[in-house]
Amino acid sequence: MSAANTKAGLEGVIAGSTDICSVEQGALIYRGYEIDDLARNATFEGVAFLLLVGHKPSAVELKAFDSELKANRALPKEVCDFLKITPPMLKSGSAVPMDILRTAVSMLGNLDPQCQDNSPEAERAKAKRLTAQIPTVIGHMQNALEGKAAVAPDASLSHAANLLWMMTGVKPTAKAARVMDVSLILYAEHDYNASTFSARVICATLSDLHSAVTGAIGALKGPLHGGANEAAMDMLKEITVAHKAGTSVEDWMLQAFADKRKLMGFGHRVYKNGDHRAGILHALGRELAEQKGPEWVELFDLGERVQKIMLDDKQIHPNVDFPCGMTYFTMDIPVPQYTPIFVASRITGWAAHVMEQHAHNRLIRPVSEYTGPALSGWNS
Ligand code: CMC
Repeated sequence: MSAANTKAGLEGVIAGSTDICSVEQGALIYRGYEIDDLARNATFEGVAFLLLVGHKPSAVELKAFDSELKANRALPKEVCDFLKITPPMLKSGSAVPMDILRTAVSMLGNLDPQCQDNSPEAERAKAKRLTAQIPTVIGHMQNALEGKAAVAPDASLSHAANLLWMMTGVKPTAKAARVMDVSLILYAEHDYNASTFSARVICATLSDLHSAVTGAIGALKGPLHGGANEAAMDMLKEITVAHKAGTSVEDWMLQAFADKRKLMGFGHRVYKNGDHRAGILHALGRELAEQKGPEWVELFDLGERVQKIMLDDKQIHPNVDFPCGMTYFTMDIPVPQYTPIFVASRITGWAAHVMEQHAHNRLIRPVSEYTGPALSGWNS
């Protein structure tokens, strides 16, 4: 029996209100600031303050916020020890970096003295700590995986530059740091997307911030949501291999359409005329590739052919995860860390939503339409 009174995937259903973000066909707005403006003129630290505190920071506020983030980058010893034992799990494939990050965030909650305190002051303090700590988890995890000593955070570096530094042990160029910074701005917030909605459902039971973020990480991991940035790059690698073996991009795409394959990094539940974030990141990623050399530009050329065929044949635009895959690849970031980096940014949006939910809380408990078997007797 099919459900007559439901919307599959809650498509188009207004599930609540928010002051934090507006996702529109023609615009993406964080607390009154348009995404192009933020990508051009703000830093991730400024956007994080805007989301977590509620207004654009003054120069003094931004400096203090930045210092607070820098002061909170180090991880408790217990979490460092956990990250050191993760390489066998990652190498065997029983875990991927998103799973390790999910466990580390849960542990950070266990070790946070304010974990059970849902007051606005405690939640903002915890949100800042998590924002500062998540890049360190990613960095130390990657270092352990490569058999290297953990790279300590560098307080002279911005949030984005420090993330790259901790992952690689190499100081990024100003351009690479800025491209990472912009990608973090673009990923920071997106109203009632699946992971944020999950966070709101969890905290609406009056559960705590770390529990909500742990659940949100689980939701973001899937390839229909944040996992699409990794899946998009894996798909581009597959097309490249096929291309080198003599299959044209056009033929690969036609086969994918015939197989009814979902192309990762394309389509969106809300944006039907394109995702504003995709164009911004594509342009920056391409600039980076042009600086790096022709073989990197080739990747963007290939991506642009895939985009054109998708648009011509299916009228489907790329979402932000498509250029993200190519951009992070150009930055030599290992593919399985792309979605954890998304977390390093979206933690700010999630935390803002948890605070907003707790400020006007009502348990989120919808109903379902029963479509199961008709009533029968256990003994009949
Ligand atoms: N590749 C091929 N066909 C697609 C795609 C795609 N990526 N996206 C949508 N379509 C087709 C879909 O098959 C359907 O065709 P038909 O009407 O013939 O059955 C039509 O377009 C409508 O799609 P839909 O499945 O109803 O759209 P949706 O709103 O349920 O799905 C989506 C949105 C994002 C889950 C989907 O576009 C998708 O699976 N994309 C690939 C994964 C992806 O890139 N996810 C990232 C989302 S945005 C950023 C983020 O959250 O990280």
